[in-house]
Amino acid sequence: MIPETTGPAAVIVLAAGAGTRMKSRTPKILHEIGGRSMVAHALLAARSINPGRLALVVRHERDLVASHLNDLDPDALIVDQDEIPGTGRAVEVALNALDAGQKLEGTVVVTYGDVPLLTGSLLAELVATHEREANAVTVLTALLEDATGYGRILRHEDESVTGIREHKDATDTERLINEVNSGIYAFDAGVLREALQHVTTDNSQGEKYLTDVLGLARQAGGRVAAVVTEDRWQVEGANDRVQLAALGAELNRRTVEAWMRSGVTVVDPATTWIDSTVTLDEDVRILPNTQLHGSTAVARDAVVGPDTTLTDVRIGEGAKVTRTHGSGAVIGARAAVGPFTYLRPGTVLGDTGKIGAFYETKNVTIGRGSKLSHLGYAGDAEIGEDTNIGCGNITANYDGEKKHRTVIGSGVRTGSNTVFVAPVTVGDGAYSGAGAVIRNDVPAGALAVSVAAQRNSEGWVLTHRPGTRSAELAAAADHQAATEATSITPATTEEGTQQ
Ligand code: UD1
Ligand code: MG
Repeated sequence: MIPETTGPAAVIVLAAGAGTRMKSRTPKILHEIGGRSMVAHALLAARSINPGRLALVVRHERDLVASHLNDLDPDALIVDQDEIPGTGRAVEVALNALDAGQKLEGTVVVTYGDVPLLTGSLLAELVATHEREANAVTVLTALLEDATGYGRILRHEDESVTGIREHKDATDTERLINEVNSGIYAFDAGVLREALQHVTTDNSQGEKYLTDVLGLARQAGGRVAAVVTEDRWQVEGANDRVQLAALGAELNRRTVEAWMRSGVTVVDPATTWIDSTVTLDEDVRILPNTQLHGSTAVARDAVVGPDTTLTDVRIGEGAKVTRTHGSGAVIGARAAVGPFTYLRPGTVLGDTGKIGAFYETKNVTIGRGSKLSHLGYAGDAEIGEDTNIGCGNITANYDGEKKHRTVIGSGVRTGSNTVFVAPVTVGDGAYSGAGAVIRNDVPAGALAVSVAAQRNSEGWVLTHRPGTRSAELAAAADHQAATEATSITPATTEEGTQQ
């Protein structure tokens, strides 16, 4: 039997900071990159190492964060930090909450809710090193050119880690150290519990520093070590919107690169944005300026873009979606959408169907092979298979108070500018004439025309719009016709067609 892989006893995610530099009414960790909140990225990384317990420490905008967490990960424990400030206090209150019932034993991992690029695999590496080396504390560190603001890693002559000094408390010499504390650690639960009791607020910020645990653990005879990562993005936090954008761009670069490595063609990675939640099959082609969001999923051989933004859209094999803005839609295999098409929620286009230029659709099911090629609106409707909807057709579904359905059968051909005044049903194989206003049901196979015969009032412009350019041209045309009628040789015309 393969033993079940066990993760650490717990992961504690810190998120009680105020995040004032974000200058936002939205709590910092709820700001999104790659289609997920920062805290959602943090929780996914934490969950991926399979911890026994997962706790999130909150304080500022507590209720908003808690309700977001409830949607994301209802099994996670929410812990409220009290008025004692500092990362050490945050971990202490979490540990107290997790210890209630049964005291934690083994490895406790601490991460931040505002470090969204950290991966589960780097966390797993940290835990594996920590447990293999039987450390009391293992801290994840990085070497930065500019270490300003970070806690510095203090090492003994033999290179062993002796402690962490906060930037604000550091001497000039210590500030030259460029190995920084990421704030991500693996602790032995017993060591952590014991050391936190001795951490004071006796420092330049008057906070309980979690970083003090390292020195205390070493003094108590424990082994303190570091895992140095070369990937600084994985330990980078977002404190303001400039950093948020930088992290978002880097996350996107990584997502796009991963898709290219798994067989997706991305013509212009710089202008292609793909949320972490999107899925793409092999041999999908993404053309420039395309943004794919939410649960969007694209099947093999489909081509999306250029200039297309899709949210929660499912695209079938070999479909083409060009210059389209869409959400909540399903596009069948080998179907075509665009250019300049607006797909709204509830649009379902069957295989090989088409929704063409300047069409808006909403709550409409379109059968296999049916085409709505140009200029129109289709909403609250059902269209059968192999139907051709002419140019400029609209479903008039809204009477000002209620919405009504239009049902159009299969094999229907509608003339240009047909208006379907819902509720109305058009039978299979029916036709409509250009400009028809369909107020009554059309039986299968019937031709529906609703427009009065055309009547021309000869000379109307000359009498009603005298002195205008139109009148001038109308008079000239009359004169020309009269001259031609009296001339002896009829004018020869060359054959040709014009539309
Ligand atoms: C902390 C570390 C520092 C490290 C840096 C990395 C300490 C004392 N210092 O500094 O060594 O280089 O992170 O980014 O730990 N938080 C709480 N409760 C609090 C205070 C903070 O939950 O009372 C959370 C914040 O929401 C944030 C994280 O802890 O997610 C770090 O807080 P922050 O104030 O950014 O710590 P730094 O001073 O930057
Ligand atoms: Mg910070």
